[in-house]
Amino acid sequence: MSDSEHPATHYDLSTLAARSGEEARSNGSTPLAEPIYQSTVYAYPDLDALEEAMSGRVPSSFYYRNGTPNAGSLERALAVLEGTEAALVAASGMAAISAALLGVLKVGDHIVTDARVYGVSYALLKDEFPRLGIEASFVDALNLEEVEAAMRPNTRIVHVESLTNPLMTMPDVPALAELAHRHHALLSVDNTFASPAVFRPALHGADLVTHSLSKYLSGHSTAFGGVLCASGELVALARIRLLRLGGTISAFDAWMTMQGLKTLGLRMRAHSGNAQAVADVLANHPRVKRVYHPGLSSHPQFVRAAELFPNGFGGMLSAEVEGAPAFVKALAGKIPLAPSLADVQSTLSHPWSTSHRVLSEDERRHLGITPGLLRFSIGIEDVGDILSDIEGALGE
Ligand SMILES: Cc1ncc(COP(=O)(O)O)c(C=O)c1O
Repeated sequence: MSDSEHPATHYDLSTLAARSGEEARSNGSTPLAEPIYQSTVYAYPDLDALEEAMSGRVPSSFYYRNGTPNAGSLERALAVLEGTEAALVAASGMAAISAALLGVLKVGDHIVTDARVYGVSYALLKDEFPRLGIEASFVDALNLEEVEAAMRPNTRIVHVESLTNPLMTMPDVPALAELAHRHHALLSVDNTFASPAVFRPALHGADLVTHSLSKYLSGHSTAFGGVLCASGELVALARIRLLRLGGTISAFDAWMTMQGLKTLGLRMRAHSGNAQAVADVLANHPRVKRVYHPGLSSHPQFVRAAELFPNGFGGMLSAEVEGAPAFVKALAGKIPLAPSLADVQSTLSHPWSTSHRVLSEDERRHLGITPGLLRFSIGIEDVGDILSDIEGALGE
């Protein structure tokens, strides 16, 4: 078609430029991989179609903050993996946890939480929720009597992590679900450290299951987000809070997470096998005082872990290493110090100065977090290479 025959040539260039992109929208074939839907708004042919979309009668995207097609696909995939009716993805793990809890809690309510939860979750419950009139009690979730004693008539949620950061304690999720439900409360489980390939809390009675998506679910330290997996009703309550507070995940991060998710099973088998081998070696090394890993028979919840984690214990472990600063230095360029976890590459972290930094020195020591404690996120590299790097650094 020559320029003069083009139907739109009577338009000014500014009009043509602004309306360009039609071809990409209608070239007749379907991409095998989902495209990234970066559009911040969606167009409708008429007011009836707009009304169908706005009323929710026809599920569709209309405005980015309310959810992109990429976020929708990821939500459906994650709900299936966690075995829940629905899911809500968010801009970060903390956004997902905040929305999950605020979906249920209101002024005058009470929450009971394990004192070992991730440092920022701890700070959220200790410093932010009281400002909204929501009180929190901090307990040892391994002690069911202590949890029971903390329950009040206005307790709406018990919040724990399936494997705690960084000491790998493992609360009894089935028993806590029974306890919470007996008190007409919900059980909320942050499942970030385990991933659904290791443990699916909803199948053991948990009502709210959350994750930081930048960890095992995406797996390559390239995507950021969070998710709540729960019933349709609880997800709807959380979604209202999240959309009003503005915690939408980007289409790109949802898309990137989906790429990582496809290899979750394969990755978790490798993470679990390699971490078990590293835990065994560290447990027998004279420079290592203590090793925390649920797959070691010395772990206080080993029997529970063996029962509830039949496919392996995940890739995380912590250890008290004598001369920790020199050990970290000796591993530089091999197993780097990086304050996150769950990458395909092994990394190290120092909880004292990172995840638990917001706590006072006394609070950290009380929780068992010392300056010599190192957290290992064991990757999917060749296990012989990981062991030789670690043994080499311990020998130096
Ligand atoms: C166990 C756990 N929960 C929640 C979070 C918070 O997730 P995000 O950093 O994505 O907000 C983290 C972050 O490291 C975490 O380790």
